Formats: sequence, structure tokens, C-alpha cells
Amino acid sequence: MRVLALLDGTLVDPEAPHIRVDDLGLVRGDGVFETILVVDGTPRELDPHLDRLARSAAMVELPAPDRAAWTRLVRTVIDAWPEPGEMALKLVYTRGPEFGDGTPTGYALGLPLNAKSLRQRADGVSVITLARGFSPDLVERAPWLLLGAKTLSYAVNMAALRYADAHGADEVVFLADDDSVLEGPTSSVVLVEGTTLRTPPPTSGVLAGTTQEALFRAAERAGWSTKVEPIERAELTGGDGLFLVSSVRKITRVRVLDGVELPDRPELNVVLNELYESEY
Ligand SMILES: Cc1ncc(COP(=O)(O)O)c(C=O)c1O
Repeated sequence: MRVLALLDGTLVDPEAPHIRVDDLGLVRGDGVFETILVVDGTPRELDPHLDRLARSAAMVELPAPDRAAWTRLVRTVIDAWPEPGEMALKLVYTRGPEFGDGTPTGYALGLPLNAKSLRQRADGVSVITLARGFSPDLVERAPWLLLGAKTLSYAVNMAALRYADAHGADEVVFLADDDSVLEGPTSSVVLVEGTTLRTPPPTSGVLAGTTQEALFRAAERAGWSTKVEPIERAELTGGDGLFLVSSVRKITRVRVLDGVELPDRPELNVVLNELYESEY
């Protein structure tokens, strides 16, 4: 099932063509996107997602997204989704057709959750670390690399996941050149040490994750401490738990890292998921 609404607010047939073949989002990956989890008709972390869409759009110098229009679009798709339960809602905003008048393309697409994310929520994941190919100070020096923007150029991220699959792992944690931890191809990394949650800072070139931020807010309210600071590769195996977090996968525990079993603490998994749900 799919539900599709275009930026002008019209609900259209998701099986019919709507994007021009010369759309720069398609031919160059020149655009930005968001994926939002909707639960029983309520979008989670909608404001942070719309904030990030605006930040990503600014980084690629697209016109500022019309927040009211995107909010209406989100509602339109949710209202047309016929079932209770969970839906993944993608917001896509591109530079538009190559020889067009400069009007961006935008749409919101409701999709069912993929079975893999659901399975991994329950079972956890095995992860390999892979080089991302930059040093953490590159963010400041090279803004054209768009580190920290959620652009449509995800071919590298998808290739890393295929590489992991070919090497017997479910997921990836990217490392910077100095062996510091970055993020997964579609997730943020959270390391638990006692009652402290740690995640690498956006200044190292990672996307600021809405799920990580919501989890940290909930944890702080519950008396945990949180640290947004660099994490070394070697620290990943020394904590009480390692997690990949994102909107659709929520809080997923890492069972194996680079072939080494991590301590299995199912209760920690439950506690973190409860904290995350308490933000909802
Ligand atoms: C590269 C990357 N980092 C982190 C995340 C997690 O972001 P969020 O929690 O907002 O879904 C994503 C989400 O897809 C991502 O693509």
C-alpha cells in the first residue's frame, strides 16, 4: 500500500508517474528528504523532522520549505492512510527538473514498514565497522560535502549495507579516518555506560538524529546523564550496551560488533525503548 500527496496538496495515484525523468533529485540525487514514523495517525518528532528538512534544504541552497504546506501534506497522507498501526512517511524535496523554471519538486509518501526493520527491532543486529573516508574536522573545512545534511545521495550508504550483507552482517557503523565513531548508514549510534548515554556530535559530520535526541531528552528527564561527544572505536565494546537508533527502527540493540559478541542485556533494551516511548 502507498499513499502519495504532491506539494500542492493533491492526493494522487501512487502507481501513476508524477516525476519528470530529468528531475535533478533523480538524475543527480540533488535534493533532501526525511523519513518519519507515524503511529496510529500521530507523526513522531514531526517538528524536529521539519526543522531538519529546512536545515538540509538550506545546506543545498534549495528554497526554504513552506512549513505550513509540508505540515498540511503530512496530515493529508496520514488522513488518507486506511489502517491503524505504523506507517513510514517520506518527505522528498528536490531541485526539480533540469530544464524547468526552478520550481522544486516535493511530495509526501506513506509506506508500510519494511519487514527487516521490524525483525531487527526484536532480534537486534550484527554490525561491522567500515571506513567512511573523512576526518572529523572536514565538516568545517568542506561545507560542499554536505556532511550532516539529509540529502537524497544515499548510494554510498546503501552500498555499505550491501557490503555488510555480503560479509554476514546486518548493519554498519561508519568510522572516521581517526577511528572515531560516526553513525550507521541510516541510524545514529548510542553507547550506554552505566546510566550514561553517549553519541558522537554532529560537528564530526553525522546527521543530528531525531530519535537520538528524543531518547536523550527522555533519559535526562528520568535522571540519566547524556553526552554528545566523540567516541573511539575501541570504546564500543567496553560499554553496557550499543544501540542503533532511527525513526523507523527505533532503538535497536547491537548484538555483535566486528564478529565479537557484545554483552546481551535485554533489560537495557527494554528500559531504553520505554524511555523512548515516554517521549511520545
Ligand atoms: C545517516 C543517518 N544518520 C542518522 C539517522 C537517524 O535519524 P532519525 O533518528 O532522525 O531517523 C538517519 C535516518 O535515516 C540517517 O540516514
